[in-house]
Amino acid sequence: MRKADLYGMRDDAARALLDAADHVHLATTDEAGGPILRTMNHARVGDVLGFHAAPVGEKMSGLGRPAVASTERVLALIPSYFVDPVRACPATTYYESAMVHGTLVALEEPEQKAAVMAALMAKLQPEGGHAPLDAASPVYAKALGGLAVFALRVERIAGKAKVGQNRTPADRVRVALGLWRRGAPGDAAAIEALLRYNPDTPLPDVLRSPVPGVRLVAHLDAADAARAASLLEGEYWLTDVPREVTARAFERSAVTVGAKTEAGELVAVARATSDGKTAWIYDVMVAPSRRGSGLGRALVALLCDHPAVRGAAAVRLSTRDAENFYREFGFRTLAESPRPGFTPVEMIVRRPLGA
Ligand SMILES: CC(C)(COP(=O)(O)OP(=O)(O)OC[C@H]1O[C@@H](n2cnc3c(N)ncnc32)[C@H](O)[C@@H]1OP(=O)(O)O)[C@@H](O)C(=O)NCCC(=O)NCCS
Repeated sequence: MRKADLYGMRDDAARALLDAADHVHLATTDEAGGPILRTMNHARVGDVLGFHAAPVGEKMSGLGRPAVASTERVLALIPSYFVDPVRACPATTYYESAMVHGTLVALEEPEQKAAVMAALMAKLQPEGGHAPLDAASPVYAKALGGLAVFALRVERIAGKAKVGQNRTPADRVRVALGLWRRGAPGDAAAIEALLRYNPDTPLPDVLRSPVPGVRLVAHLDAADAARAASLLEGEYWLTDVPREVTARAFERSAVTVGAKTEAGELVAVARATSDGKTAWIYDVMVAPSRRGSGLGRALVALLCDHPAVRGAAAVRLSTRDAENFYREFGFRTLAESPRPGFTPVEMIVRRPLGA
């Protein structure tokens, strides 16, 4: 297989990577053929990658010439000893990158400029707080006239994902287990990326579940976070919590685990926050139709083995009626597990969400 095929990424995935990035590196040349490289905020509008710049600037001198914009997301640094205890050769970086080739052009029409500026504002100031960027709006008529908006007319977009595709399935399992043991921020997500890009990788033992056709998931991404929130909707401890708040809680938690069917349906979720010293477990839930098969036990075992939870001196949770479920993992009530030297009082301040 050619290297480009081995590491190739689907165009829509490359586009998504590009859109999610808050900046790109833009390379072009000046009149004398000298290289220009700049870091730019960007927004894609159809087949145009738009930028905003001062009218008289180095970046504008590349107009009419070929240019390349690129962005990348580092998934994990992979040390050599994950696969080879002696040689340094296997050390590498897992990453995803997207590169756009095209020609740099100036956008002259107020409508085009407004569309790019609106897309840039939507990325940089998603909360709004300004009049809509519309070429017909008197608020912007003058400003848009004097504004320099230039764009890369996209001719080709190429994505690359280097996530262990060159390794044997057995080596990939070693890498996955190495990531799980190391547990740096992002490592659990890198395990899921490794499995996604290499579906022939045998499932690492830590992700096996007792239910046929269901596997444990080391990290839930943003789409999974939204699904987790739907799954949890109506649970007794979330009655006053809107679904999007639960989804955000998953996105912001250091630890998010779950279980999925082969078809990708999320059937169990749990999360934890952790500062390395104390971890708090929240939102443990198995889909009703999957309960009673050992999935909850496997899920909590994975959660407790997660690097951010594993090393914590205290792991805490509260429950209404699942006390005995947690006991087998060593959890005890505060009264049963006194702190030597003093008796702590648990305190809380309750107030409306988001106040
Ligand atoms: C609690 C929950 C996660 C357990 O998931 P599950 O997949 O049904 O659990 P398992 O099949 O792995 O059960 C493991 C063991 O715990 C026991 N158990 C399960 N739920 C229990 C509960 N609520 N209280 C006490 N023991 C429980 C099981 O009987 C089993 O013990 P056994 O092997 O001796 O029979 C699941 O019932 C659930 O999602 N409940 C609703 C949400 C909830 O209450 N979450 C906990 C909030 S703190």
